Amino acid sequence: TDYDTILVSTRGRVGWITLNRPEALNALNSQVCAEVVAAATAFDADAGIGAIVLTGSARAFAAGADIKEMESKTGLDMTMGDHFGGWGQFAAVRTPVIAAVSGYALGGGCELAMMCDIILAADTARFGQPEINLGVIPGMGGTQRLIRAIGYYKAAELVLTGRVMDAAEAERAGLVSRVVPAAELLDEASTVAETIASKSLPSVFAAKAALDAAMETTLAEGLRFEKQAFAALFDTHDQKEGMAAFREKRAPGFENR
Ligand code: HXC
Repeated sequence: TDYDTILVSTRGRVGWITLNRPEALNALNSQVCAEVVAAATAFDADAGIGAIVLTGSARAFAAGADIKEMESKTGLDMTMGDHFGGWGQFAAVRTPVIAAVSGYALGGGCELAMMCDIILAADTARFGQPEINLGVIPGMGGTQRLIRAIGYYKAAELVLTGRVMDAAEAERAGLVSRVVPAAELLDEASTVAETIASKSLPSVFAAKAALDAAMETTLAEGLRFEKQAFAALFDTHDQKEGMAAFREKRAPGFENR
């Protein structure tokens, strides 16, 4: 498939999407959105893919939504064009997505990372929601997902002042899964993705869906969802195989069924 703003490749059971607009620090315009959604959706429909890595360049994961593309829009344009609606499709893929963040993850870039399931950060990573400096506010989930990730007061300070956090602060705040030396970021992302991709797909999909339920619903609803998803896995081959392998002290041979 031909993409202009991203690079897409497959390594084993892992799908890689690399944002590739170096001239704009990977600013997210509508073409990037359409291409990332298309690539992620295609990986999601491929049973040969068990995890996706989304990354950028050493200098920038993404420096935000494309300010030059947005500048002249009216409020009605943003509403009716559903300018960022495609990102909702990206957030909804059932395959786990690992964001490997190096350099700037600002505005929409930080919001895009938060649509992923795991955020691995290089020690050079910078996270923030600086939209307030532009006379707007986060528009791809930043006011909502950031609070769930790092709590109200920390999120409110970042959203209201536009201050940017370094990787160490982001890790302390709970925004990132883990910080690694910049030179090791992609290898580490690859290891995490391959680990996930080696598990049984039905259990991985169930785990992601249940984790999503925790972010999106009440505790009671989330617990009901978890109970059903947990029970359903006992009708899979791979649950019988995984537990037999434990009893027989050998590695499981999952068949994704
Ligand atoms: C368009 C961008 C861009 C962006 C950088 N560029 N960020 N273009 N949209 N978000 C472009 C610059 O214009 C410049 O191109 C080139 O990338 C390199 O950037 P520089 O500014 O020259 O680099 P540097 O001095 O190193 O500064 C890096 C930076 C700065 C601190 C990250 O670029 C910056 O502040 N960017 C904007 C960050 C931001 O405000 N993000 C939030 C956007 S609003 P030229 O051709 O000029 O040299 C948002 C809303 C999300 O994300 C919600 C949507 C619904």
